[in-house]
Amino acid sequence: MYDIFISYRRDGGFEMARLLYDRLQDMGLNVFFDLEELRSGKFNVKLFGAIDDSSNFLLVLPPNSLDRCKNEDDWLRIEIEYAISKRKNIVPLMMKGFEWPSDLPETLKGLHLYNAVQMSREYFQASIDRLLSMCVNVSAGGGKKTHAEKDVREENKYFTYDNRTERRRLNTQQKLMRGFDAPAYDKVKEKYEKLVVLDIGTNTGEFVMDRLGASENLEKLIGIEFDEKAVRYSNDTYGQEGKIEFYRLDAEADSFGDDLQEIMDSHGIKAFNVINLSMILLHLKTPYKLLKKLRAVLAKDGTVIVKDIDDGYNMAYPDENGDFAKAIEICGREELAGYRKSGRQIYTLLYRAGFKHVTQERLGLSTVGMDSDERSALFDTYFSFIGADLKQLLEKYPDDRRLKADAEWYDSVYDDLEERFQDDAFYFLLGFVLYTAQR
Ligand SMILES: C[S@@+](CC[C@H](N)C(=O)[O-])C[C@H]1O[C@@H](n2cnc3c(N)ncnc32)[C@H](O)[C@@H]1O
Repeated sequence: MYDIFISYRRDGGFEMARLLYDRLQDMGLNVFFDLEELRSGKFNVKLFGAIDDSSNFLLVLPPNSLDRCKNEDDWLRIEIEYAISKRKNIVPLMMKGFEWPSDLPETLKGLHLYNAVQMSREYFQASIDRLLSMCVNVSAGGGKKTHAEKDVREENKYFTYDNRTERRRLNTQQKLMRGFDAPAYDKVKEKYEKLVVLDIGTNTGEFVMDRLGASENLEKLIGIEFDEKAVRYSNDTYGQEGKIEFYRLDAEADSFGDDLQEIMDSHGIKAFNVINLSMILLHLKTPYKLLKKLRAVLAKDGTVIVKDIDDGYNMAYPDENGDFAKAIEICGREELAGYRKSGRQIYTLLYRAGFKHVTQERLGLSTVGMDSDERSALFDTYFSFIGADLKQLLEKYPDDRRLKADAEWYDSVYDDLEERFQDDAFYFLLGFVLYTAQR
């Protein structure tokens, strides 16, 4: 197993790749760097195996290095396509003078959505620190990472039906957010004579059933969820054969488009007029790919609704000792909470995936006007799961000292945070975002 695979083009990229290799090796990392003999001539299929065995794929980008990717048999292109298809953690390293070409082949279009690092020879160690902070399973000081310090999207199918706390929390969140998102759902209920709905990341079905499932003009509702027990539960509770059905699929799997098409055919569905993505994109590694596939099955006048979160919009006041800020920071670091900077990407992702009329319907859910029960629900929605996640992570990484310190600190301040949250004069804004877009 390798920590890092270095991908580079010999012309212009070799020297930087070599420098990186030496430095990362010195730091104790296991790095795959194929020397020149494999780099010349035809693509060497052995490289596929090395990519498979690597957690991270560093892509060295000197000026014009992607120009030749126009050719289908260009091996750098093949290498990148393979890393994308295997959903590797790709980190583009942009050298001075590199610019993204405007005519990248379709298969590489998503590449510039990955968080990139500007490489500097002058500040080489700073560049290394930055790129390591974006690698998975590697700590910022080199060495193996235990508790993820993530700044990138990771695949995170966190939900398991057996997690009762999480089920309860999602239910509380569903009710709490009715006022926030229901107007967008009411709009589509009015807009379409007959609703043909696709819901991705359905969980146990409560959310989509509450917002759309009970609508009089519902013709079909197809729910997609990864967790098997959750799918069984929603079929048992809400299923109506031929009308409301839930399926177990991985929305990020390569076969997702074909599997979905099969389901549509079996229901005689040509296209959906509403596609719902509620609190799912933050859990995906490659949301762009999914959005492209979904656009293809959205009716010409159809609407996609996206609800997501971004902790960058969060605000707590007063927070004199910084406890709320620290709790938010911990949430951003822990690997079960999804990618907490997802919300800011939604607008761009939707446009890049080809959607039109992208509209921000809502931004931020605040305590203003909330009664005590609603405040409790909001606190529960956000703060209760941080403690639960830290406990779960500690079981996974018992030797992680930072994690231990976070968990102990969180435990010690939790009651205080909860009490302060109940104060009518305390202001909190949680960075939920809600977008709609058309095909
Ligand atoms: C935060 S919950 C959101 C549930 C519901 N949509 C809501 O808003 O209350 C995310 C759900 O997406 C599911 N999920 C995560 N990754 C998935 C994937 N790749 N394919 C299908 N479902 C996935 C999880 O199992 C979980 O049930």
